[in-house]
Amino acid sequence: MKTVIIRVDPDDVRPGDLAPAAEIIRGGGLVAFPTETVYGLGADALNAGAVMKIFAAKGRPPDNPLIAHIGAVGEAERLAREIPEKAQKLMETFWGGPLTLILKKRPEVPGAVTAGLDTVAVRMPAHSAANALIKAAGTPIAAPSANLSGRPSPTLAEHVAADLFGRVDMIIDGGNAVIGLESTVVDMTGEIPAILRPGAVSADHLRAVVGDVLAGKTEKGAPKSPGMKHAHYKPAAQVFIYENAADISNLDDFERPILIYMGQKPQTNGFFKTYNAGETKEDYAARLFYFLRRADSDGADAVFAFLPDEKGIGAALRDRISRAAGGKSV
Ligand code: TXA
Ligand code: MG
Repeated sequence: MKTVIIRVDPDDVRPGDLAPAAEIIRGGGLVAFPTETVYGLGADALNAGAVMKIFAAKGRPPDNPLIAHIGAVGEAERLAREIPEKAQKLMETFWGGPLTLILKKRPEVPGAVTAGLDTVAVRMPAHSAANALIKAAGTPIAAPSANLSGRPSPTLAEHVAADLFGRVDMIIDGGNAVIGLESTVVDMTGEIPAILRPGAVSADHLRAVVGDVLAGKTEKGAPKSPGMKHAHYKPAAQVFIYENAADISNLDDFERPILIYMGQKPQTNGFFKTYNAGETKEDYAARLFYFLRRADSDGADAVFAFLPDEKGIGAALRDRISRAAGGKSV
């Protein structure tokens, strides 16, 4: 398949910029586009055939449902059978932004989007190019992260091209995805909202608006978001998590180990390279997936990744880093 790459300046999106991309979406094709969290791989959410192409392009397990992206709060009603009061409050507070809500679906939403569930994931992004695309297409856009299944999510158009060039019709290059971790997914179908996947909108942010919120593992540790059980974020190198660099004792097992640190650089020798994740957890979030991919291009055989505390976006960082490490710590 021929893949066209176009560039859009997120600070200056002009009417017409997204017209060719919208045309592809309306015609049942695939367009990768930037959002404030990570790049998404989009298709018309109301066209089952188009949505199935997403699974083929990514090699995504068919039991893992997709998020439907909309351009205005009111559009959620096109997809969801009912909007509970707490969901309405969350939409008004955090949309457009990195928050996905699980709602009871309308019959018009194809089973291909929801993997046969009777719920649908809905999100309104904040990114100017994403919003312009959804508006120009005139239809909700189903989109997972625009990586091959199992790989780190893309925060640059180059990452998308590395995984999906030749497998999609168009890639919209809108620069760096500023948050760098995927949206917070919250199940709104029960009495108490439950976080299924942590993200930049934290449990405390949600509680300030709707009171009680369930965070962390659901009963018996069973992930309620189907995607949480699949291997994800895996670079070729083995990933280990550490909280204190002094605890790293297995460096000699590796030829090209890489250290990811935050803040002050630890006093540690023997690393092939060190990556500075910045001063804050927000900096770290923006760079994590980029680092996991760069470790591969640098030929690393091990990555030692700092595990920050769980306040704020820390919970999302801990989730993604732990999953990249498959639970391995030093
Ligand atoms: O920030 C994001 O959310 C990015 C951008 C592109 O919007 N998208 C993204 O999509 O991360 P994806 O497909 O990589 O992750 C969607 C997550 C998966 O864990 C999936 O299992 C869960 O949302 N999900 C989708 N529909 C669901 C549903 N009906 N019930 C429970 N979980 C659902
Ligand atoms: Mg993903």
